Amino acid sequence: MTSEPHPQEEDLRIREMSIDDFPVVFHIGENLFTSDYSSSMYRTWDEYEIITLYNSDCELCLVAEFNNEILGFALGTTVEKSKSSWKYGYLVWLGVKPGIQKGGIGGALFKEIKRRMREQGVRMIIIDTDADNEAGIHFFKKQGFGNIQQHVYMTLNLSRKSPRKRRKPA
Ligand SMILES: CC(C)(COP(=O)(O)OP(=O)(O)OC[C@H]1O[C@@H](n2cnc3c(N)ncnc32)[C@H](O)[C@@H]1OP(=O)(O)O)[C@@H](O)C(=O)NCCC(=O)NCCS
Repeated sequence: MTSEPHPQEEDLRIREMSIDDFPVVFHIGENLFTSDYSSSMYRTWDEYEIITLYNSDCELCLVAEFNNEILGFALGTTVEKSKSSWKYGYLVWLGVKPGIQKGGIGGALFKEIKRRMREQGVRMIIIDTDADNEAGIHFFKKQGFGNIQQHVYMTLNLSRKSPRKRRKPA
């Protein structure tokens, strides 16, 4: 009797990212973190994000693999502030391939990065995302995040001539 294959959640493997995974992770992120995703220049997805985070803490750079295919990733780091005994975990990028979202992959990646951060002594995890990323915000709330704070981003276009100052009347 032949047994049926089990392409189920237990086959989802969360593991540390390796250098060989960089191109796949980069291209998944490229499809997710487009200008539609975020119109601000504050968070821009590029290859340096992956390399910098990998250099800073490779234990917090994870991929989700299913049938030898990478379907998602979580890239994080830790932050220690002077004069604070608290260590913070910063989950910088979390992404799951479009088309297979809402299948538990993001949750599995988050669970593992949280476990690793806790093991490193992290007491609070921070994330940031655009205010209109309803799916992302819904996801993070479901993971227990709260205390939403809004930021204001401003720009100054240096290629424009600054407005002429009015001369004071004599
Ligand atoms: C956020 C993200 C990583 C979640 O991964 P996922 O594999 O879809 O998440 P899970 O299946 O584990 O969790 C599902 C939960 O996520 C939320 N969610 C995911 N996609 C959603 C969507 N399109 N609309 C609304 N909620 C969504 C919901 O809370 C959902 O829970 P539900 O069962 O109540 O519907 C994924 O949607 C993604 O890659 N989004 C684009 C990138 C992004 O916004 N990253 C976060 C900031 S860096």
